[in-house]
Amino acid sequence: MPQRLLPATGPIIAPSMLKCDYAHLGEQIAQLDRAGAKVLHWDVMDGHFVPNLSYGAMVIAGTRKQTDLFFEAHLMISDPEKYLDDYIKAGCDAITFHIEAVPDPRSLLKRIRAAGVLAGLAINPQTPVDGVMRVLDDVDNVLVMSVEPGFGGQSFMPEVLPKVTQIRQAANPQTLISIDGGISPETISAASKAGARFFVCGSSIFDQSDFAHAMDSMATLANAASA
Ligand code: DX5
Ligand code: ZN
Repeated sequence: MPQRLLPATGPIIAPSMLKCDYAHLGEQIAQLDRAGAKVLHWDVMDGHFVPNLSYGAMVIAGTRKQTDLFFEAHLMISDPEKYLDDYIKAGCDAITFHIEAVPDPRSLLKRIRAAGVLAGLAINPQTPVDGVMRVLDDVDNVLVMSVEPGFGGQSFMPEVLPKVTQIRQAANPQTLISIDGGISPETISAASKAGARFFVCGSSIFDQSDFAHAMDSMATLANAASA
């Protein structure tokens, strides 16, 4: 089982490290920790599954030594099965891969769980929900993309919200539903109302000088919308 746990209730605001200042990565992590972050969301991009390259398991493993925050790896890569062990060894607490990247997600989800890591399945805005529905029992975290994956700073796509609600209704109560892309004070309430509890936030945290205020105000909005 993972040693680090997610908060059991309430909204989770997860900074997307794609948007951090890489010249000061260690300091940014310390700043997020002080600001009350519980989770770091690491966007891994391979320039193939998405048209952008970011970082990989080595960077995550390096920062793992610095902090005890919960780490989620969001693998926007082709052949995630090939690289899975690297992300387990890097100390990720949750590993999320894309349903579009594998022919059948079930065996990979089972491998992630067997390693004591939370198993996440991400779904792109254009992908129908059926494939996720078929494997819900093997998923700990469904990540609904609310932008096309590849870049931070894009506009939220409200048309994905019915998928969030559909998954929320079909999944076990303990299954997490995450939403990723364009989450801000303007969009978080609708996402929370639709059934998301885990909010990945890039620009809406890193473009602000006060991380604690940015995270707290979005958590308050999400909480109010879910009541
Ligand atoms: C997009 C990534 C997101 C992104 C979020 O492909 O998965 O995590 O960095 O950034 P914002 O919040 O700016 O949309
Ligand atoms: Zn992401």
